[in-house]
Amino acid sequence: MSRPWWQDGVIYQIYPRSFADSNADGIGDLEGIRRKLDYLEWLGVDGIWLNPINPSPNKDWGYDVSDYTDVHPDLGDMATLERLVEEAGERGIRILLDIVPNHSSDQHAWFADSRSSRDARYRDWYVWADGKDGGPPNNWQSVFGGPTWTYDERTGQWYLHNFLPEQPDLNWWTEGVWEAFDDILRFWFDRGIAGFRIDVAHGIVNDKELRDDPPDPEHEGRVKPVYSMNRPETHEVFRRWRKICEEYDPARLLVGETHVLDPVVMASYYGDGDELQLAFNFACVYAPFEADPLRSVVEQTEAAIPERGWPVWTLSNHDVIRFPTRWAGGDPDKIRCALFVLLLLRGTPVLYYGDEIGLEQQEVPEERELDFAGDRDGARTPMRWSAGPGHGFTSKDVEPWLPFGTGTDVESQRDDPDSILSLCRALLAARREREELRSGAYASMSAPECVWAWRRGDSHAVALNLGADAATVDVSGMILVGTRRDRDGEDVSGLTLGPYEGALVQL
Ligand code: NOJ
Ligand code: CA
Repeated sequence: MSRPWWQDGVIYQIYPRSFADSNADGIGDLEGIRRKLDYLEWLGVDGIWLNPINPSPNKDWGYDVSDYTDVHPDLGDMATLERLVEEAGERGIRILLDIVPNHSSDQHAWFADSRSSRDARYRDWYVWADGKDGGPPNNWQSVFGGPTWTYDERTGQWYLHNFLPEQPDLNWWTEGVWEAFDDILRFWFDRGIAGFRIDVAHGIVNDKELRDDPPDPEHEGRVKPVYSMNRPETHEVFRRWRKICEEYDPARLLVGETHVLDPVVMASYYGDGDELQLAFNFACVYAPFEADPLRSVVEQTEAAIPERGWPVWTLSNHDVIRFPTRWAGGDPDKIRCALFVLLLLRGTPVLYYGDEIGLEQQEVPEERELDFAGDRDGARTPMRWSAGPGHGFTSKDVEPWLPFGTGTDVESQRDDPDSILSLCRALLAARREREELRSGAYASMSAPECVWAWRRGDSHAVALNLGADAATVDVSGMILVGTRRDRDGEDVSGLTLGPYEGALVQL
């Protein structure tokens, strides 16, 4: 049986408000993305994941959805989306959307009805409970700080929100909620959407009895989300959704934001090959940029993911500090090594827009901050396509919704064979050309301290020196792609790497 497209492919995450602005209002949009399809095809990606595109009051920038089956007017309309899906498809690129099943916006019609009276039709679509001893129903804590409960005067009860008060949790103990999401999935799949990234995948179901969470021994004053999240019933949601995915040809893809740090728990979301096809690996995102810890995360992941599962790797996203800053501190050599990690392990890589040019986290001045959580804005700034006013993102006299920041851009790297963009493209091309780089097994190789080396299949090896001193690793063959491109094509017998140098070698 041939492998599904996403096992061989590379996914590219786009934050739609920040990719390309087609109508000069300073906000990136779907038409802007469509106009960049040639670029994405040239880069060599196979799928695009769009952060939420649904109507939203944007209290949490799209993660507070007020209508699950429409498009936010800032971003375009349904016709533009359909055109994007179609024209991407002509280039062999599939479109994935973001789905937010844990909570809706408080402006969603369901919640407006739910809060209107205790016997409203949608009352039990959200989690309502009586307070205890003059306070909230239990001790659960919001991911964004403070209690997960807000008292609603109108009906004299509290409602649950694991995130902002404007993001009330849906009640997955109500059958109607399951049916509504079945319909939402089908609505988009019928329109050619290739799958979903699932927001807060591990947190969809809450404990039915609302039991108190235990204290977190590692974080003073915090509780561990044992009952507010990570419930076993969540797996049933994914088994049900997976069946819906399999009704389509090609089968639709579920990628979970499984924000759990234990690789074994993360791997549980693959089920028995009957839940998520991909579960994001946050242990890797949060690992330090050092050989031993990274090797160990990868080994643990490889061991934990069941036979029918498939790893997925990402280093940046809209919630964390971009890796060229977090891991590399802006050092181009380190950025290059990090891209080798992302693109040469066994599994599906997910590039965040800008990763391919080594775009750094941007400073957003306080008066321009839009996100309540502060530093996330710096990972969401407009793509820097070129130098000069507008940066190829918007018209030259338009102020973008978030500032451009500083640094590199696509145009200045595009024709430079030694650029990070050219390196990224070379690695994507190597993956396409060489079966082993897509499907070959991962095996750690012995290596000196600070060097991480691994084999892919029988005839490829990757070695990265993540230390400040030169080191030699027992690898012989021909360098296919080096972080130092002047070494491409070099025959080596024992591979000596300078500080923060890496190479992909054909053995
Ligand atoms: C995870 C999303 O990636 C993040 O941006 C959002 O704030 C929370 N989930 C809540 O939806
Ligand atoms: Ca726009």
